[in-house]
Amino acid sequence: MEQSGKIGKEKLSCRGITKSFSSSSGNFEVLHDLTFDVYENEFLVLFGPGQCGKTTLLYMLAGLEECTEGEVFHNGEPVTGPAPSRAVVYQTMALFPWMTVWDNVSFSQKVRKAEKKVIAERTQYFIDLVGLTGFEKSYPVQLSGGMKQRVGIARAYCSDPDVLLMDEPFGHLDAQTRYMMQESLGKIWENEKRTIVFVTNNIEEALYLADRIILLSDCPSQIKKEYRITLPRPRSLVSPEFLKLRKEITEQMNMSD
Ligand SMILES: Nc1ncnc2c1ncn2[C@@H]1O[C@H](COP(=O)(O)OP(=O)(O)OP(=O)(O)O)[C@@H](O)[C@H]1O
Ligand SMILES: [Mg+2]
Repeated sequence: MEQSGKIGKEKLSCRGITKSFSSSSGNFEVLHDLTFDVYENEFLVLFGPGQCGKTTLLYMLAGLEECTEGEVFHNGEPVTGPAPSRAVVYQTMALFPWMTVWDNVSFSQKVRKAEKKVIAERTQYFIDLVGLTGFEKSYPVQLSGGMKQRVGIARAYCSDPDVLLMDEPFGHLDAQTRYMMQESLGKIWENEKRTIVFVTNNIEEALYLADRIILLSDCPSQIKKEYRITLPRPRSLVSPEFLKLRKEITEQMNMSD
């Protein structure tokens, strides 16, 4: 099996980014002076404790939140707002409830006015890839939580973004479904290599999926440590190497600065 995580060119670059929110009691700094790159076809996990600013950081990469200081670059160009080339998969999937699975997945291509035959082929390909064959005509309300997340992932992939930004997409799922989804996202990414930034506060999920983990500290968040994960894929959650890394990273996270 191909050993993933070869360092490619920089897709996203964060340079000295700081984020503060103002409130009635003054300025509240969430992120402090973060500098890192995300490389082409890398699966980067942003891992950190609750409320440390993971979603805020992901939204800054997406262009949904502005930097207070510093800059984010995508392919060398400053990020000044959201763009279709950076697709976001949210924790609670924002599907269009009035549209079928098929229409949700194909939506972005129709907006771009792609050729009908191409739309149909791509849509079916991604529906099949996420394991939803046969559910094309179902509406979101008829699907389980895991199935909705699958639609969200298919929709994001189908829009053919340069970068996929995922904010705890499996956070609301039960443990077993969550594991199944991690497994299938791992497979999808092996098939359809893409640059992914994936936020989680679950260490197993981080270790199962990542080429590299950036460990964030408590608020105001800084980069505490980076781990390059070279365990062969698909990964065993109980291999001695996996358990050793799990222990090491958990201890590092709980260690005060
Ligand atoms: N738009 C905003 N205005 C003011 N404060 C905000 C805003 N967005 C986030 N915050 C604050 O920034 C901090 C970090 O929030 P954020 O949602 O980024 O953390 P998180 O690591 O994603 O949390 P969780 O683990 O719960 O998902 C929190 O204290 C939150 O209240
Ligand atoms: Mg969050």
